[in-house]
Amino acid sequence: MSSSQDPKSPKSPKSPKSPGGKAASPEPTPAPPTIVALSVEESREAGILPGAHWTEQPLNEVDDDGASTIGSVASTTASLSSSIFEYRTIHGRTYHGDVGNAESWQPNDQRHVDSMEILHHALMLCLDGKLFLSPLDKKKIHKVIDIGTGAGWWAVDFADEYPNAEVIGTDVTPIQPAWVPANVKFEIDDCNLEWSWAENSVDFIHLRIMMGVVTDWHSLFRNAFRCARPGGYVESMVSSAYFQSDDGSVKKGSALEQWHHIFWEAGKKLGRSFKVIEDDLQIKAMEAVGFVDVTVKNIKVPFGIWPEDKRLSELGLWWKLALEEDLEGYLNYLCNVMLGWTTEQTAAYCAHVRKEWADTNIHSWFWLRVVYGRKP
Ligand SMILES: C[S@@+](CC[C@H](N)C(=O)[O-])C[C@H]1O[C@@H](n2cnc3c(N)ncnc32)[C@H](O)[C@@H]1O
Repeated sequence: MSSSQDPKSPKSPKSPKSPGGKAASPEPTPAPPTIVALSVEESREAGILPGAHWTEQPLNEVDDDGASTIGSVASTTASLSSSIFEYRTIHGRTYHGDVGNAESWQPNDQRHVDSMEILHHALMLCLDGKLFLSPLDKKKIHKVIDIGTGAGWWAVDFADEYPNAEVIGTDVTPIQPAWVPANVKFEIDDCNLEWSWAENSVDFIHLRIMMGVVTDWHSLFRNAFRCARPGGYVESMVSSAYFQSDDGSVKKGSALEQWHHIFWEAGKKLGRSFKVIEDDLQIKAMEAVGFVDVTVKNIKVPFGIWPEDKRLSELGLWWKLALEEDLEGYLNYLCNVMLGWTTEQTAAYCAHVRKEWADTNIHSWFWLRVVYGRKP
């Protein structure tokens, strides 16, 4: 394994469908999963302040013009980008319908799609404008799969760059555009089930920002290893939920310090870890299933405009814009369903997060990690 920098720290049948309009007949609205929320004691043990803490804290004015106020959860209007499936509605936000065993914590409404679009730009900036880091030989790239493609921008951009490659983007929700390059198609598929692509058939398998999605990284990469052709690559990029600061400006008990406690504990309850970097999940699983030349790149990403360096400040700005676009969407399922907070408590927590993100005296940053490996 090589690393550029060390950070501190029951299957069911699949039914791939195309989201372009040719889909199954409407199904009844699936009920949201029944989940027992985290008890106060469990929250305390996990280092999470109770939701009520955030409604009790005074919230002073924030200078930042992008900061919003308590109540934005309640005012959220869900809008469906497609009527192919009947979606779940949870606390005013929509989520994917029943697909395999999927349980996505991310909404699929327009507000969240907008946030992911900005994030696509931020992620590209983090790789200096590149779509991937694997040393691909363009002449040998014929079939590419983007697992958990989201709104499909990575797949579309890749297809533009590699017009001779067939690019397939998969997801559990049909939020991908209909007008795409001829060499792109999208399928509805639960990546945690057995993959259906032929053995030794895929030249490049890409997964981006799949924290809190993957139930078993070993099983996922075992599938990838089987489907990859010899010489083919798999690449995964994830971000950490752990906001750090080199100067102690992210203070214990602050909203930003609480962020990783919330994500890690909610992920544990969801059965889909957010501690992917901290537990080296990509590296361990890729190596264990047989990928070789496993290469790791850790990227320190500042959050917000506090860095003096222009490029870093630009990176931080785009990340801030992306997450602020739908902060409530990132927290709705995790806080309200997994941790048992009320929507008011989550909205109050969001307001504190926004306030801290707007404060340029708080020098927060987090790790982004890209890991790629080759099938021998
Ligand atoms: C953070 S988004 C990342 C989207 C895209 N990879 C990107 O980087 O823009 C995670 C995506 O995983 C999808 N997802 C959730 N559970 C999934 C599953 N079991 N199988 C496939 N995709 C899933 C979600 O619908 C969401 O679009």
